[in-house]
Amino acid sequence: MRRSTPGAACLILFLSETFLHERRHMNTPSLTLTANSAGRPVLEDPVDVLVSKMTLEEKIGQLQQVDASADPLPDDLIEGVRAGRIGSVINLADTDGCNRLQRVAVVESRLSIPLLMGRDVIHGFRTIFPIPLGQAASWNPDLVREAARIAALEARSQGVHWTFAPMIDISRDPRWGRIAESLGEDPFLTGLLGSAMVEGFQTENLSGHGAILACAKHFVGYGASESGRDYSATNIPANELRNIYLEPFRKVVEAGVATLMTSFSDLDGIPATANGALVNGVLRQEWGFGGLVVSDWNAVNELIVHGLCEDPRSAAAEAVLAGVDMEMAGDAYARNIARLIDERVLSMSLIDTMVSRVLRLKQKLGLFERPYTDSAAFAPLVSDNALGVAFQAAVESLVLLKNDGPVLPLRAADISSIAVIGPLADAPHEQMGTWVFDGQKSDTVTPLQALRQQFSGKIDVNYAPGLETSRSRSYHLFEAALEAAKKSDVALVFLGEESILSGEAHSRADITLPGAQSELLAQIKALGKPVVTVVLAGRPLVLTENLPHTDSLLYAWHPGTMGGPAIAAVLFGDQSPRGKLPATFPKSVGQIPIYYNHKNTGRPPNPSDMILIDDIEVGARQTSLGMSAFYLDDGSDPLFPFGFGLSYGEFELSNLELSRPAIGLRDRLKVKVTVKNTGANFGFETVQLYIRDIAASLTRPVKELKAFRRVGLEPGQTELVEFELGADDLSFYRRDGSFGSEPGKFCLWVATQSDAGLQAEFTLGA
Ligand code: BGC
Repeated sequence: MRRSTPGAACLILFLSETFLHERRHMNTPSLTLTANSAGRPVLEDPVDVLVSKMTLEEKIGQLQQVDASADPLPDDLIEGVRAGRIGSVINLADTDGCNRLQRVAVVESRLSIPLLMGRDVIHGFRTIFPIPLGQAASWNPDLVREAARIAALEARSQGVHWTFAPMIDISRDPRWGRIAESLGEDPFLTGLLGSAMVEGFQTENLSGHGAILACAKHFVGYGASESGRDYSATNIPANELRNIYLEPFRKVVEAGVATLMTSFSDLDGIPATANGALVNGVLRQEWGFGGLVVSDWNAVNELIVHGLCEDPRSAAAEAVLAGVDMEMAGDAYARNIARLIDERVLSMSLIDTMVSRVLRLKQKLGLFERPYTDSAAFAPLVSDNALGVAFQAAVESLVLLKNDGPVLPLRAADISSIAVIGPLADAPHEQMGTWVFDGQKSDTVTPLQALRQQFSGKIDVNYAPGLETSRSRSYHLFEAALEAAKKSDVALVFLGEESILSGEAHSRADITLPGAQSELLAQIKALGKPVVTVVLAGRPLVLTENLPHTDSLLYAWHPGTMGGPAIAAVLFGDQSPRGKLPATFPKSVGQIPIYYNHKNTGRPPNPSDMILIDDIEVGARQTSLGMSAFYLDDGSDPLFPFGFGLSYGEFELSNLELSRPAIGLRDRLKVKVTVKNTGANFGFETVQLYIRDIAASLTRPVKELKAFRRVGLEPGQTELVEFELGADDLSFYRRDGSFGSEPGKFCLWVATQSDAGLQAEFTLGA
């Protein structure tokens, strides 16, 4: 219910603008001149003035976010707004509905405090961009910022003030359905792209046209949910918590994110919503975060289910004392804060501080002056500009994982027919992916539609889905699919996962292609035609079994509204693929968790002493061979490493040069490398810089991404790529808990994927 888009039928009286205008300005926080005890004039903080006028009930109201998805809105919700008992709502997202409810707050409530309207605008509002994991594959912060900007403008045009994004949970487990919403496994990339999203949503200081509040979530560790099962406990050692999971949050706080959401998860015995050491301690005291912290959906009451609290009263106390300002979709605060003040468990000044944080955000958004939304002041939804950015974002999210032949790019002039096969070739809803409330499948252009449009009258497009859905196990459509392939020059096979198979509460234990898709692909390949597989999915899938059955493999994630044209443009070479994996692709589920920035172990895998299961003689005894970190049946490498992705060019790196062999704490190390396109086509390469701290007070990952740069080169063209590194780039939370770098030796790689590259060494002096 709460996920549905509420319609406009809300039974609230529509009041005239003139009356509203007068009423609205009665309590607009504005600077007030008063005298201090010495009789000197002082300017009073308008938010403090407003708080001083509020009753306790009104204050508690500001800490309450209520679900407003029911249509029509229930009377008690409207009455709660009128009485000042509700400060924020979630899931109301149509202009009329938002304006009508806002009028109740502004005109009919005693203090005329406007409501803050929240909505999950995760990867677009009406125009749907690739799922965040797909956007992360672009490695392009400017594009990610632009997509968030458009999402914010569309959302604000409909009355939304606050999105619950970016989701910056580091995720090393593709079974976890919410990996789709994440920006992948790397703290550096996640921090960078998450900050770009924040900037896109919020604009400079929330003052820009169509700015909305961003909310970094889920603070912290949710991505480590045990075994990839959603909502499971997380067990994260302190060093990993600091240096991996908290790192992107530190970055978005630096970037000015206005709000954070606590995680549902239990972190080493203390659920995040009650974790004062993290919220008040790390976030507020250490990092100086001055914004608002909201709980996740009903997470305060869930402290009882977790087994931390016996009743809502103590759950509310725990959450408030931990630093959670607002409760989302629960009533523990509303029912218990007054009593907790009476009992002196909570102080009024603490509540005032929490209320001030809410009011300050309303003030920054300009809601006291402009509480209503005027859609006419915005570009229409799904504008040409929005579609253009959605197209570009989808193009840049595509990752080419295999290209034997090379079969791609297809040359339209040499082809007279294509077979378009697979349950996801023409599935407008599915290609939008998870967390889409406002996107409409009627806006979506599927690969089939795009290919038909582009080649009508020029190339025969033989479409046969082969399977009704990605989960179907019925073979009755196979024959038609095989016939389509037989009569075509090339088979384009669109496989993967429907959108419902990833996202919140949609984890999978087996992440191979669902249903009979693998068999369909194998049978098409057996026909001997060139086969190009395009996978649309919400996570890295295990494709080991499928790889031999395709000549080319293009990974499209869930690419959103413009996924079809983007895929067509890449398949036919109008655009060169350039995406790079933001998460490791495992060979098997048994390898999970598998990620590039792991620790070394005392016995790192060594290809020369690895034995595989089939090489072990029956009856053989344990030998000293193979005493290292690998699987007998799956070795140690993933199927595709982090940072991997092909293009239509081929690239070579050479002449790695460091400006000096050693740097001091204040120096910058300059790193230069030459990139050459040695292939026959124009293409893109993302040059990646990784480091390793060879010995430190705490063992460090075998590699850490520190910088990257993308170049686009014609065949034969070269470019000099330069990076700079300083001691701050080498810093981490050290054994004594402090943050900084440690002198010593470092390895450095400049590479086109995380498991290769040119290598050099340098030293950081004391
Ligand atoms: C999710 C949040 C989301 C919230 C509101 C929760 O179930 O965990 O990420 O923002 O619902 O829809």
